[in-house]
Amino acid sequence: GPDDMAASLTALLEGRPARDYSLVGAESRRAVEHGLADAEWFRPHVDPARLAALTERTNGRAVLDAALWFALLIGFGAAAVLSIGNWWAIPLFAAYGALYGGSADPRWHEFGHGTATRSERVNDAVYYVASFFLLRGPTLWRWSHYRHHSDTIVVGRDPEIQVPRPPTIRKFLLNYTHLLIVPKALARMARHAFGRIDAEARDFIPERELRKVVWEARAFLGILAAVVATSIAIGSVVPLLLVGLPTIYGAWLMVFFGVTQHLGLREDVLDHRANTRTVYMNPVFRFLYLNMNYHVEHHMFPAVPYYRLPALHAEIRDALPAPSPSTFRAYREIVGEMWRQRRDPSDELEGRTIPVVPPAMGQAIERAIAAPVAGGRFDLGAADDLAPGTMTGAVADGLPLVVARLASGAVCVVDGICTHGHAHLADGALVGDDIECPKHNGRFDLTTGAPCRKPVRVPLGVYDVSVTGGRITTTLARQNPPPAADPAAADRAAAADRAAADPAANPAVAEPARPPTGSHR
Ligand code: FES
Repeated sequence: GPDDMAASLTALLEGRPARDYSLVGAESRRAVEHGLADAEWFRPHVDPARLAALTERTNGRAVLDAALWFALLIGFGAAAVLSIGNWWAIPLFAAYGALYGGSADPRWHEFGHGTATRSERVNDAVYYVASFFLLRGPTLWRWSHYRHHSDTIVVGRDPEIQVPRPPTIRKFLLNYTHLLIVPKALARMARHAFGRIDAEARDFIPERELRKVVWEARAFLGILAAVVATSIAIGSVVPLLLVGLPTIYGAWLMVFFGVTQHLGLREDVLDHRANTRTVYMNPVFRFLYLNMNYHVEHHMFPAVPYYRLPALHAEIRDALPAPSPSTFRAYREIVGEMWRQRRDPSDELEGRTIPVVPPAMGQAIERAIAAPVAGGRFDLGAADDLAPGTMTGAVADGLPLVVARLASGAVCVVDGICTHGHAHLADGALVGDDIECPKHNGRFDLTTGAPCRKPVRVPLGVYDVSVTGGRITTTLARQNPPPAADPAAADRAAAADRAAADPAANPAVAEPARPPTGSHR
């Protein structure tokens, strides 16, 4: 309205954002009041068996990509140092810096989601190294990224909005050097190292994780201090050119790719098709950027590993806006829209059509309604229809459930809604005896309901199950204690659940009466 426009113009003249992008201001309250926080987002329906295949992780591809990245870093770093004194040291350092301060970002992202390899340790190791390269506190940024996925480009909620409206071209260009960002990040890290965690960070990091934030800040600053000391001791800037400074002089590559994700698109919408961009890129860019150019697909299905995003794109492209045909075209769109938003921050991009979703890909996912049967039981379907290593969603007595068959053949029935952010777990992934949430990749042990990967904290309900006469049934009797109000007690309960995870001794896990036929659902 005219008032908004006047406020925007005043803000523009005063050189400040038209809206309050902080996480602790009026916009944050407004977002919550308008139902924009932790809301349900559109995502097209994908056949469950196909989605399970797309979600499967392998070690080979990601380990090879990570090894190649490290090899390139070492190769260019060594060549640059050996070339000092010659003009070609400059492009060699530039390439090293881009791999360090630029290509670390997609590694940080993919390994941070925990989807790149099957090994948590490998995922975490690469995540920590990349976090240091980017000077991002690993725990702080993990929680920041959970929030980014919950409330993507919601003003006052998303800590990862790159360019507030109205955009300032000068600041936008300065981002490419990180000359302003790195000193700010170091100052914040120093405050955190002294235990002074800011209100923004406290808004998305749970209290129990704050000590880790402090110690990680101390560790990262300690490493940087050691590098500075080495540089001073040997009277050479080379150690700093290899560790620390590349976060500044190599950042341009991260920003070059990163702005294509959301910039110039809508704020405050609950549909990634309206606020996120997929861009077709060449194979070299896709290696450097680890397929993050399929960004709408990633936001809709964060459980799909980066190397399966092209296949996921092929699967759901009919439900998505047309991708930008090239990086150049994406930039043309972004720069044009930023130019318009300089004068009118409320301007929105025109010509981006969100297709009408084909009926087969509509969001409404039919869950089987379990029929009540004798003895207060609910029939959850034929055991033979559920192959080992698969799951399905069901609703019994109004309660959403997941019915899963482990690789061992045992059947488990657990709550169907994630205790962290209300996502439907049947749309997630089975990983061994765990179920992974499709929203933030948190995990629960299916046999005990215990949380076993961040950010989930509260156990899932696990229900009794029996397989008789080839039918899976439950009385919906909860087998594990309901969550304790006190988080420390919840921790103890989760630990106790884990200790009792022996399927033979656990009444919540039923062995099938006869062997499964292996048919997929
Ligand atoms: Fe966040 Fe499930 S909704 S992990």
